[in-house]
Amino acid sequence: MREPCNPPAGDPDLDCSALPPALRLGEPVTDHLHAEFLLLLEQAAQAPDGALLAALDEWLDHTRYHFGQEEAWMEAMGYGPRDCHRTEHEQMLAIAARARGCVEQGDAETGRRLIAELPGWLAQHIGQRDAPMVAHMRENGFTLVEGPVQGQAAP
Ligand SMILES: [Fe+2]
Ligand SMILES: [Fe+2]
Repeated sequence: MREPCNPPAGDPDLDCSALPPALRLGEPVTDHLHAEFLLLLEQAAQAPDGALLAALDEWLDHTRYHFGQEEAWMEAMGYGPRDCHRTEHEQMLAIAARARGCVEQGDAETGRRLIAELPGWLAQHIGQRDAPMVAHMRENGFTLVEGPVQGQAAP
């Protein structure tokens, strides 16, 4: 039986079961984003070299969306440590973009090293950054709603 969570976007077949229980925050939108992060990463890990760039790009697109959602929520809440949290997102995306560039130049190994490091990065980030953000939401009565980033991006 699937976890009781609502997919925020993308493939409705994705569910939260890809997320180890220790990484679940009990907030379905956030948990789903994190499950998708790991699923797309696993798809990239399994991709042959010729499909690695496309798989990495799919993970990158999703990760930009994921981070953008969290940053919009933090901004909307006036969450104090949002700059620290956003900086950590930006630093990781900068590293990922450099690795992606290597893959584009034919260096698949650098992409695969990045992919191997990212589950550990996510676990640490959830514990240090996302968990306090979700706790703040709960303590202050905020309810996650889907689409603040998409809404902001609309013309
Ligand atoms: Fe997150
Ligand atoms: Fe985050």
